[in-house]
Amino acid sequence: MAVHGASDQVATAVRELAFGLAEMTGMAPEITDDPDGMDTNMIRLVQFDEALSLRLQELVPRQALNEEGYAIQTIAENGGESIVVAAKSGKGVLYGTFHLLRLLQTGDLGGNLNILENPRNGLRMMNHWDNMDGSIERGYAGGSIFFKDNEFIRDRARIRDYARLMASIGINGAAINNVNVHHTETLLITPRFLPDVAAVAEIFRGYGIALFLSINYASPIQLGALDTADPLDPRVRAWWREKAREIYGFIPDFGGFVVKADSEHRPGPFTYNRTHADGSNMLAEALEPYGGIVVWRCFVYNCLQDWRDRTTDRARAAYDHFKPLDGQFKKNVVLQIKNGPMDFQVREPVSPLLGAMPETNQMAEFQITQEYTGQQKHLVYLVPQWKEVLDFDTFARGEGSEVKKVVAGETHPYAYSGMAAVINVGNDPNWTGHTLAQANLYGFGRLAWNPDLPEEAITAEWVRLTFGKDETIFRALRSMLADSWHIYESYTSPLGIGWMVNPGHHYGPNVDGYEYSVWGTYHYADCQGMGVNRTLKNGTGFTSQYAKENMERYESLESCPDELLLFFHHVPYTHMLHSGKTVIQHIYDSHFEGVEGVKAFIELWRELEGRIDAERYEAVSERLRIQLAHAKEWRDVVNSYFYRKSGIEDQYGRRIY
Ligand code: GCU
Repeated sequence: MAVHGASDQVATAVRELAFGLAEMTGMAPEITDDPDGMDTNMIRLVQFDEALSLRLQELVPRQALNEEGYAIQTIAENGGESIVVAAKSGKGVLYGTFHLLRLLQTGDLGGNLNILENPRNGLRMMNHWDNMDGSIERGYAGGSIFFKDNEFIRDRARIRDYARLMASIGINGAAINNVNVHHTETLLITPRFLPDVAAVAEIFRGYGIALFLSINYASPIQLGALDTADPLDPRVRAWWREKAREIYGFIPDFGGFVVKADSEHRPGPFTYNRTHADGSNMLAEALEPYGGIVVWRCFVYNCLQDWRDRTTDRARAAYDHFKPLDGQFKKNVVLQIKNGPMDFQVREPVSPLLGAMPETNQMAEFQITQEYTGQQKHLVYLVPQWKEVLDFDTFARGEGSEVKKVVAGETHPYAYSGMAAVINVGNDPNWTGHTLAQANLYGFGRLAWNPDLPEEAITAEWVRLTFGKDETIFRALRSMLADSWHIYESYTSPLGIGWMVNPGHHYGPNVDGYEYSVWGTYHYADCQGMGVNRTLKNGTGFTSQYAKENMERYESLESCPDELLLFFHHVPYTHMLHSGKTVIQHIYDSHFEGVEGVKAFIELWRELEGRIDAERYEAVSERLRIQLAHAKEWRDVVNSYFYRKSGIEDQYGRRIY
């Protein structure tokens, strides 16, 4: 192995490649830092700079690479062949090295390599919802890998492994603490914890990951300095400027802040009658001299809605709050927008805010952790869902303005944009609780790198990297993963209505769980029908937040897609769907089918016994059993509820309690 390049990430690439090769071949590779030194059958890791020999300079089409891209090429040298991994930056070399390791592991290294990759998204971020007591908000795979008992975990081996995992799928930023910043976590930006934060940032740096912190908007008050957090108060501004200076003294390449403000009882600029532009710009001003950014979340809505009030619509909130502020944000603010207008439901439309603010940086927020999608007990592969979102045409710049182009900064020249996700890892030995939930983590990283990757290609990579090249395993898992989202959808809440979970922990069926709570997430089911009228004509007007093409499609009962019907319309149970079924018959059928779908998973998985190590085989079998029992509960609860409400018999006379 020959190496040219002195950055931290090149050093990491060398270590990772040496380790990988030794693991795979049983032999430790020889390493030289003279790039032209050894003669042939080499792996050359090259970071371009002036000192590089002309021969290597000319090998790779350097102009075609962006700052984080890389090329992998087979070259003929001295009668043999070598492989060159070349990039402009250490990060690029590292990403290229992991790509090479992937090819080695999947056995796809044969033939002449001629690979050129640039990430489509600039920001490829993970959001941890970890609290310093070691718990994780919406975590289903054990405790935090960063914190325990209100301290940082001293043994950082797991954090290093985490950083490797992230770099191997191209992640370049991570916020390590929960967006709900409680008392202890507010102290993360003080000298009490900054040395620990810096130690984690150092590990991250080697893997090309910028560390971000979620901050408490009211920090100047909580940390005892001031009696206000008013963003226009000069003392508050000065406080944050000084705070930024202090943080950068510990961490020179600190990524910046993630902020949840004026949302679900978190403090924010509204307290002072200021806008979210005022609030975020104040923080951006403080971070600007150091190159830091503010990731400002748009999950802002009135969470205390009165059911009699039919005009307030939680789905409208993000757009209503932020759209009027377009153009008022500083260049180092990026708005982070959840993929849907509600909250990571199994099915909801795409957020109309995506693409709607041409003058304001935007990124999309997804949820890998399966809060509403079975909490990593149910198998739900989210890549198909994310691909639907990414491929959705916003028409923001006319036809062909898909979400993936918006958030990649291709429809508008954003200074910062990309994709973020709430991560699903914890300290469980297999990271994600459900072994197959690893596929979601992997898939998110790959889509953030390249949203055009086909679902099946991502699945194939993950299955082969995780379980080897056995075709039987691949065929079974491909079908289980591909069907899992629709199957989960079919036995849970129907036709885009969402929710119907137990409030609070969000697991398990409870049709009226949110119907009689203050959160404003209603289905309005009565004995006649159900659904939320969000039309412009006589509903909440939410449809009007979309570009004309989408607005018209959702507004009309004729063109609204079945799977979102109840999100946009209130209809009688006898309403006929495009599928040719009535709404009520669809509810019955899909709930019976969903349970059969889970039974089919169990059959498929059984075929793999003996082909997969017993530990993973058993662990997945156990979760599938839980899923089946729980799917039956969902089926029976939902079917009985609507049978009793509507009084309409199932066409097939099946057992409905
Ligand atoms: C959901 C989730 C919360 C989380 C919130 C957010 O409502 O249930 O746990 O804090 O989203 O994204 O801020």
